[in-house]
Amino acid sequence: MRAFVTGGAGFIGSTLVDRLLQRGDDVIAYDNLSTGMDEFLTEARKSLRFSFVKADLLDEVALAAAMSGVDVVFHLAGNADVRFNTLHPRKDLEQNTIATHNVLEAMRANGVKKIAFSSSGSIYGEAPVIPTPETCPFPVQTSLYGASKLAGEGLISAYCEGFGFQGWIFRFVSILGERYTHGHVFDFYKKLLANPQELEVLGDGKQRKSYLYVQDCVSAIFTAMENADDPVNVFNLGSDEYCQVNDSIGWITEALGLSPSRLYAGGNKGWIGDNPFIYLDTAKIRALGWNPTLTIREAILRTLTDLEANRWILERRP
Ligand SMILES: NC(=O)c1ccc[n+]([C@@H]2O[C@H](COP(=O)([O-])OP(=O)(O)OC[C@H]3O[C@@H](n4cnc5c(N)ncnc54)[C@H](O)[C@@H]3O)[C@@H](O)[C@H]2O)c1
Repeated sequence: MRAFVTGGAGFIGSTLVDRLLQRGDDVIAYDNLSTGMDEFLTEARKSLRFSFVKADLLDEVALAAAMSGVDVVFHLAGNADVRFNTLHPRKDLEQNTIATHNVLEAMRANGVKKIAFSSSGSIYGEAPVIPTPETCPFPVQTSLYGASKLAGEGLISAYCEGFGFQGWIFRFVSILGERYTHGHVFDFYKKLLANPQELEVLGDGKQRKSYLYVQDCVSAIFTAMENADDPVNVFNLGSDEYCQVNDSIGWITEALGLSPSRLYAGGNKGWIGDNPFIYLDTAKIRALGWNPTLTIREAILRTLTDLEANRWILERRP
């Protein structure tokens, strides 16, 4: 199979690229390297079945040309950082919604019909049902990021209906693991390197979140695509547990041998659009035989170990 991975140089995308190559697929990674890292493709570049296109999804001509001869698109490129959504109100619209439309149009131009999409648990906003199933009624959106991802889901399902596409939509919780470049473990580790005595915590530290290890995330994507065959297939991807931000701080500081005082910014949210409790019902993907291999604590510690071994990543991301 010839796979096209948008965001293929990113945290999750580059992991997916390596796994696709391992299973024998040909892979084209398409990425503008805005947050992705060329270094994450070192392993992939050893394969003759891999090629890389450095270009932007907003460049429709380059995108359509790069997609020639492809069987399936894994659309992972996007603005992945929820926190700054109100600072740049156009960014999520452009990088998540319009970019997704461009991907769908390039597929149409090239006769490609299968798409997997990295959506997010953020689309549930402050969900009325927890653990939240895929069928949960949609509440009011609370972030521009979530709204832009939900719009992307809508476009994909409309292309499935209108043009005979087949879609697999994955609503991820926060992902952890090797090549992690953004998120709470990144922020806490960076802050603790700068000041091991004191740690600023956004919110009250009592936010409850679910997390998933990146290799488990990729395995779940493969499981769903091999076993679910509806025109539109929607799956929550997460682990069967959640923790408080305070638990995570405890695990991180213990592993680093530190006991900083904690300075809480206060409030039950870390930022506008933060969801104080994210915990997804993953019965649907589990029914296909998938199970995560790491607990949240194990995934957090593995992420920390990888960051410690790759401190250059901290310098490359603000
Ligand atoms: N990491 C998480 O916890 C998480 C959770 C839910 C959903 N997601 C989604 O999964 C996807 C991957 O996230 P990630 O954590 O790997 O983030 P990431 O920032 O590492 O990856 C995104 C990649 O897309 C590329 N990119 C961004 N805009 C582009 C554009 N216009 N044209 C071409 N390339 C572009 C970036 O350079 C980067 O390599 C994103 O769509 C994100 O919203 C991530």
